[in-house]
Amino acid sequence: MEKKPDENKFYVTTPIYYVNDVPHIGHAYTTIIADVLARFNRLRGKEVFFLTGTDEHGQKIEKAAAEKGLSPKEHVDRVVGRFQELWKAIDISYDAFIRTTEAYHEKGVQKIFQKLLDRGDITKGTYQGWYCVSNEHFLVEDVPMEKEGYKICPDCGIKTSLIEEETYFFRLSAYQKPLLDFYAAHPNFVRPQSRMNEVMSFVEGGLQDLSITRTSVKWGIPVPGDPKHTIYVWFDALNNYLTGIGYGWNEELYKKFWPATIHLMAKDILRFHAIFWPAFLMAGGFPLPGTVYSHGWWLKDNAKMSKSKGNVLDPNIILRTFGADSLRYFLVREIPIGLDGNFSHEAFIHRVNSDLANDLGNLVQRTLTMVRNYFGGVIGEVGPETDEDVKVRAGFDELKARTEELFSDYAINRALEEIWAYLGTVNKYLADHEPWKMAKEPDKRPRLARVLLQAASAIRGISYVLYPVMPGSCDKIWEYLGESKKIRDMKYSEITFGGFRPGRAVQEPKALFPRVLLKDFLAEEKAGSESKTKAAPEPASAVKETTMEETPTPKAPARNLISFEEFTKMDLRVAKILAAERVPNTNKLFKLEADLGTEKRTMIAGIADTYTAEDLIGKSLIVIANLKPARIRGIESQAMLLAAVIGDTAVVPFFDRDVPPGTKVK
Ligand code: MSP
Repeated sequence: MEKKPDENKFYVTTPIYYVNDVPHIGHAYTTIIADVLARFNRLRGKEVFFLTGTDEHGQKIEKAAAEKGLSPKEHVDRVVGRFQELWKAIDISYDAFIRTTEAYHEKGVQKIFQKLLDRGDITKGTYQGWYCVSNEHFLVEDVPMEKEGYKICPDCGIKTSLIEEETYFFRLSAYQKPLLDFYAAHPNFVRPQSRMNEVMSFVEGGLQDLSITRTSVKWGIPVPGDPKHTIYVWFDALNNYLTGIGYGWNEELYKKFWPATIHLMAKDILRFHAIFWPAFLMAGGFPLPGTVYSHGWWLKDNAKMSKSKGNVLDPNIILRTFGADSLRYFLVREIPIGLDGNFSHEAFIHRVNSDLANDLGNLVQRTLTMVRNYFGGVIGEVGPETDEDVKVRAGFDELKARTEELFSDYAINRALEEIWAYLGTVNKYLADHEPWKMAKEPDKRPRLARVLLQAASAIRGISYVLYPVMPGSCDKIWEYLGESKKIRDMKYSEITFGGFRPGRAVQEPKALFPRVLLKDFLAEEKAGSESKTKAAPEPASAVKETTMEETPTPKAPARNLISFEEFTKMDLRVAKILAAERVPNTNKLFKLEADLGTEKRTMIAGIADTYTAEDLIGKSLIVIANLKPARIRGIESQAMLLAAVIGDTAVVPFFDRDVPPGTKVK
């Protein structure tokens, strides 16, 4: 049945997850993609419905419950909360959460079953086949017999069992041609394209009728009028996409949103969505969904992350250390939507430290700190736009159009690449203008105001287009920028570069992203205790870049008092800076030569983004002289300077009068 999808509506679904165990990174991945698309489409002014939920029936759940000595219902009631808590912790904005054990769903499935029975597409017979409990399906392909006399499921690699029983069949074979015709008319039904080809060749190879009830499984929805049969878990589960949107209980809602715009899932269950599901829908006379999008797998140690392989990563550990947005960003940035990706802690740390803390966090921090320091938080009169300023503005207009196009085409990682390319341009613009130098020349104030206005406007625009991926951080950035409206209340069409105007008071920015050392992350992962509390990001240390090889000091509890003796162990001295040069290929490292009175020392300090060499040479400041030397970028750092750290910006305390080098500070 043809019903043109309504361009103003966006109905997105995730698979409903099995509750045989707790959620992991793989489940989070699909759900985050769905959330990004839902948030983006809300920004574009569409009416959005985002459905997720849990698949609570079937043999697999029955088995998992029995292993725990629980009834299936007790078991599912316990696990479902873990999914809901995780979705809350990672800011998943679903509109409805469906559980297949809910009465409205069960009734809806029975109604659809009856409909297909009445139309003659479901009939009773006897089935003999090889059943895979892990995937909850009979093998459909011609799998060779092992010499021990059983067959292995080609999808899961586990042993299947031969089962013969009375069953109801769905006439899948009758839908081979209608399906092929439908695919030909809707070449974007399955995406990515390579998967469409796979699906088509599978269907071209012939379709057998499908057994859709079981007598040996009790935990499920009974067949209407024949309760010794339980409806096959996939027939039950797939229909959640209809019952979850009101079919059978809210006609208005159902009519408004069906057919779905996009069903998301990984490739493991594409066949169910791209073949069985449209065939069931055709049989029931329902309009067909727009797109079935199958993404790749997150692998760990090069194998699909799954509970049965024991290689799952617990998202709670990452959330506790890094917060929701780092996880959201990493998962959708790291791999293009159709490909597999191997999860590595190194890659994760790199993304967080480099993309988030450095490129984004630092830009926000630096810009707003300068607006506060140089203009008391309010940019006043600005000079005219130069060609370079215009480039920053035009760059945003292009970015906005491009991200809209890419998000609409589900190319989330491509949209992020564009956003980061623009971030790079803005960072360079700011560094090239050296506003900290202009701040010393009173006649350059209008120019300084213009440069900071341009940077603040760019930050505002970036956080708007980035919001679908990182809602929490972008909301905070808007707050720091003194925006009165929430991002979610502004439509894409309303966003312009000029939205940030002079005269607006900005707030004090706080560090947005934690900077974490790899070994701390690994240790946290190892410790592995699951707590649901999210830690607030910690400010970065002034003199540490992530490349440092020294051992970080353990975090001190809030009132960890030390004795005076312990304090005196620190040899604090006045050091006079003799020379300063940038460490090549770093963003903020200076190699400093300092006079400590009786000797000269070399130090590496992460302050080159706040100070120029001229700002430092000849000045006296405080260093710890008896800290163990550390090798940083191949250079031995023989002392560490002290600085106040505001977010990512280090501010060095200078003396207000001459103090001889080497003087003790106590
Ligand atoms: N209950 C069925 C789905 C029924 S939908 C009508 C099911 N559940 S599941 O819990 O096994 O979830 C499978 C889905 O979880 C995958 O299709 C994918 O969306 C997500 N993922 C689970 N592990 C994953 C990875 N390792 N990598 C990427 N996605 C993963 O199948």
